[in-house]
Amino acid sequence: MNTEQVALVDDAITSRHSVRAFLDQAVDASMIKDILRVASRAPSGTNTQPWKVYVVTGNKRQEMIDRVVAAQLEIYESPEMANQYHETFAYYPETWISPYIDRRRENGWGLYGLLNIQKGEKEKMATQQLRNYQLFDAPVALYFTVNKAMGIGSKMDISMMIQNVMVAAKARGLDTCPQAAWNHFHPIVLDVLGAPDDEELVCTVALGYADPEHIVNTFITPRVDVDEFSVFLD
Ligand SMILES: Cc1cc2nc3c(=O)[nH]c(=O)nc-3n(C[C@H](O)[C@H](O)[C@H](O)COP(=O)(O)O)c2cc1C
Repeated sequence: MNTEQVALVDDAITSRHSVRAFLDQAVDASMIKDILRVASRAPSGTNTQPWKVYVVTGNKRQEMIDRVVAAQLEIYESPEMANQYHETFAYYPETWISPYIDRRRENGWGLYGLLNIQKGEKEKMATQQLRNYQLFDAPVALYFTVNKAMGIGSKMDISMMIQNVMVAAKARGLDTCPQAAWNHFHPIVLDVLGAPDDEELVCTVALGYADPEHIVNTFITPRVDVDEFSVFLD
């Protein structure tokens, strides 16, 4: 690769960020297929390629949103209803430690600050939480599932595939938001998808054209220095 090509690859990677407001503009199915084809060059342990992707648009997308938003609203009404929904795997730790909890807080309050949501403003927080289940208005939802028979390593494989999807989308002028928020509602999601019982929801990605006017999309998150997270041994 020459320097210009390196710069383009780097730019696709570094310009990707989570977008939480999308335009009402459809994405060509052929472009989505292209993205998935490119992304499927991701490595996977012994080339198992354990990913399955449901590309959801149109009426199916609306049905998904309606059912999951209704479930979340029900939980707001009666919090004990949350007991019937569990993640299939624990994405986050039960007990948080520094520095991760600090970064998590900084991230949350940074986003809320931009949206003018202060501590204790539960209704505003709930409204923002619900935006997850409205896909932040993205016209496309990608639901990534894996066969339950596969090991935890398959989730690594799928994660690599997802990152490829997000970067390939970025290179085509599209934006994304990876979403673990849907995982709690996997029984509803899998039902709407018509997915077989042996599948498990791993992650959802909202895909579409970013709304350049929306303040939420100006949220750019920091990263720690390479020196802080790397150890060079010789
Ligand atoms: C697996 C995964 C799940 C995530 N789930 C959500 C989510 O449910 N809702 C959301 O708004 N952001 C979600 N995010 C986005 C993160 O908050 C975001 O990646 C992080 O703050 C870094 O910001 P950036 O993506 O803009 O670089 C998720 C990210 C990952 C990798």
